[in-house]
Amino acid sequence: MSSSIVSLKSVEQQQELIITPPSSGLSLKGKITVPGDKSISHRALMLGALAAGETVIKGLLLGEDPRSTASCFRALGAEISELNTEKIVVSGIGLGNLTEPADVLDAGNSGTTLRLMLGLLASHPGRFFTVTGDSSLRSRPMSRVVKPLQEMGAQIWGRKNNSLAPLAVSGQQLKPIHYHSPIASAQVKSCILLAGLSIDGKTTVTEPALSRDHSERMLKAFGADLEIDPQTHSVSVIGPTRLSGQTVIVPGDISSAAFWLVAGSIVPGSELIIENVGINPTRTGILDVLEMMGADLTLLNQREVTGEPVADIQVQYSQLQACTISGDLIPRLIDEIPILAVAAVFAQGTTVIRDAQELRVKESDRLAVMASELNRMGAKITELPDGLEITGGGSLVGAQVDSYTDHRIAMSLAIAALNASYSTTIHRAQAASISYPEFFSTLQQVCQ
Ligand code: S3P
Repeated sequence: MSSSIVSLKSVEQQQELIITPPSSGLSLKGKITVPGDKSISHRALMLGALAAGETVIKGLLLGEDPRSTASCFRALGAEISELNTEKIVVSGIGLGNLTEPADVLDAGNSGTTLRLMLGLLASHPGRFFTVTGDSSLRSRPMSRVVKPLQEMGAQIWGRKNNSLAPLAVSGQQLKPIHYHSPIASAQVKSCILLAGLSIDGKTTVTEPALSRDHSERMLKAFGADLEIDPQTHSVSVIGPTRLSGQTVIVPGDISSAAFWLVAGSIVPGSELIIENVGINPTRTGILDVLEMMGADLTLLNQREVTGEPVADIQVQYSQLQACTISGDLIPRLIDEIPILAVAAVFAQGTTVIRDAQELRVKESDRLAVMASELNRMGAKITELPDGLEITGGGSLVGAQVDSYTDHRIAMSLAIAALNASYSTTIHRAQAASISYPEFFSTLQQVCQ
C-alpha cells in the first residue's frame, strides 16, 4: 500500500494497519460498493446445497466466513463451483441427503455457519458428524441452539455440558416443537427452522423481538411452507418440505456499509455514496440511529432484488448528537454497535447503549474491547454490564490498539483513527477479511 495515510505492514504473520491522518485533516470522498451481505451469502450456499437442482449465486461475499460455509457443505456432499463474485453454481443434493464426512467439519470463525449447520446435522438420522471452529468460536455458547435441538430429540455432545465446540452430533428423526427463545437471535431462529424443514409437522420459533429475517425470505423463495406472525415475532415451518434451486443476487452488506456511513458522518468535509446496499428493515437500525443522531443520510434508487430491498446511500458530514440505543432496536443493529461507539465518541453529549449483553459473546467481548481500545486513544467510555456509556465531544489521539482478532473491531478502530491526531497502529488488522477483504483498499481509495 503506497498512501502515506493508510499503510499495511506484515509482522510475524500478523498485519498491522497504520493510519496517519495529515495534520491539516482529511475528508472522505467517492462512490464505493461494499461486498455481499454475509448473512445472505451463508444462507444462499446452505439452501442451495439442500435444494433440488441448481442454485446460482451472484455477488457472494468472498470473506473467510462464507468460505467456511462452502467448505463444510462441500464436505457434506454438495457441489459448489469455485467461489467468485460473478456467478457461483451450487448443485443441490436435496433435503435430507447430506452425507457423513469422514473428517471434522470446521466452521472457522463463523457462528452462523456452526449454529445453522447444527440444525441440519441434528435432523439427518443415521449419520454422525463432528464440528469445530477456531479458538474464538470454540469459546462461544452453543447451548442456545443445542437446548432447543435437544427438546426436538437431537443428540449432541460437547464440553461444558454440551455447550462448547467441538461438538459431536448423532443425527436423529426429530419432532416438532414450539420454541420460545429467550433471546432475539437470527442464528437460533434459523437453526430451528432449518431442522424443521425435514420434520413431519409444524415447528415454530417465537422470539422476544424480531431478528433479521433473511432465512424466512430465502426459505419462502426456495419453496418452503412458512407461516409468519409479525405480531408475536413467530415463524413456523411446516414440514417435510421441498426446496428447489433459485437464483440469488446478494446485495451489499449494510453491516460493512456502516463503517463508511459513520466515517462519512464524523470526518469533516466528507461525502460518500455507497452503492447497492441491502436495506432489509430488520437490519436498518444503524440508519435509524444515525438519523436520530443528526446524520445527513439520503437513500437513493430504492429497489427490490431477489426478495430483499436495496438502495444506494449517500452520506455527508454533519455534527452528531448523543442518543440512547436500547430495547428492540438492538437486534436491528447488533453488529453495528462497535462502529456506533465510534460515532458516539464524536457526538455532542453522552450516548448510552443498553440491552446489548449479547455483544459479550460475539467474536470478542465487543463491549470490553471497544471500551478499552477507544479509551487508549483518549475516549471517555464506561463499560456497563449490558452496554456502554460514551461521553462524546472530545478528541482522539493515535495509539497502539488491537483488534482481538475480531473483524468488526479492526474496522471500527480504523475509522476512529481517521479522526484522531497522529498515527494509530491496529494490531492483528487482518481480521477484517472475515467479512470485508477489500476494506483496506477501499479505505485507501476514499482517503485520497
Ligand atoms: C447473524 C445473526 C446475528 C449476527 C451475526 C449474523 C446471522 O447473530 O450478529 O453476525 O446471519 O444469522 P445472532 O442472531 O446470534 O444475534
